[in-house]
Amino acid sequence: ATTLGASAAQTGRYFGTAVAANKLSDATYVGILNREFTMVTPENEMKWDATEPTQGQFTYANADRIVNHARANGMRVRGHALAWHSQQPGWAQNLSGTALRSAMVNHVTQVATYYRGKIYAWDVVNEAFADGGTGARRDSNLQRTGNDWIEVAFRAARAADPTAKLCYNDYNTDGQNAKSNAVYAMVQDFKARGVPIDCVGFQSHFNSASPVPADYQANLQRFANLGVDVQITELDIEGSGSAQADNYARVVRACLAVSRCIGITVWGIRDTDSWRASGTPLLFDGSGNKKPAYTATLDAL
Ligand code: XIL
Repeated sequence: ATTLGASAAQTGRYFGTAVAANKLSDATYVGILNREFTMVTPENEMKWDATEPTQGQFTYANADRIVNHARANGMRVRGHALAWHSQQPGWAQNLSGTALRSAMVNHVTQVATYYRGKIYAWDVVNEAFADGGTGARRDSNLQRTGNDWIEVAFRAARAADPTAKLCYNDYNTDGQNAKSNAVYAMVQDFKARGVPIDCVGFQSHFNSASPVPADYQANLQRFANLGVDVQITELDIEGSGSAQADNYARVVRACLAVSRCIGITVWGIRDTDSWRASGTPLLFDGSGNKKPAYTATLDAL
């Protein structure tokens, strides 16, 4: 096939990208989006600060623009993210204890209910584990409401939208390490106790300090063996030329070697769309031309 989406579909997978609502008026951007991708993740528009800027008052206009564009063009949507320590509205940052717990559950319930039936998979909880060797939860206002906040969020999401796949999503969990071991133990525990979880997202932001791990495929496989789908959710790889292209191909091959690795999402379309302040981590250059990384990705699919 001649596009990322069509090539991924040959093995039953999707190929997605993060989308920013304010770029949907950019013809070059939309042209590539509609041609190449079969899944979209709103880059910021479904986050807590965007959807509930004032407590109890929900704003969906920008997220709806992305969801409507996706649905009108035959793409599915990954919802991102219901509960996260970052990009919280100021009012939530100032809450704690039972007030914050209740606000979090209400937020999950309201947003998942609003989008019920329109979301392929939700990142229910994002980035809840600490970096480094401890395997501990990340300290956050949500964590301080009690260790059960993650399972409470998943149960609320399931109740609100029984049709969406429910994912846990994190970074620096792409290879086997103390952090991914801790996420693995949580997923194993959730499966054993019947806490609803369907998928684990591996953000996969790679650079020279954090390269594609040698055991990437093995790590994806061990999670899949727990009975969850795995998804590459925010892929970008710093670099250029053939080295970057080889790394993209490695990621694609790792996913395709794991039957429950059901899709890949890149975190933006052109290098100039990247959240990274500098560098060229994506598949299209700033003019929308296909890079060697694009060709390597397409060939590996
Ligand atoms: C980033 C967005 O790309 C930026 O536009 C925003 O300023 C900050 O957040 N992990 C995640 C994503 O789960 O939500 C982050 O997205 C990138 C890291």
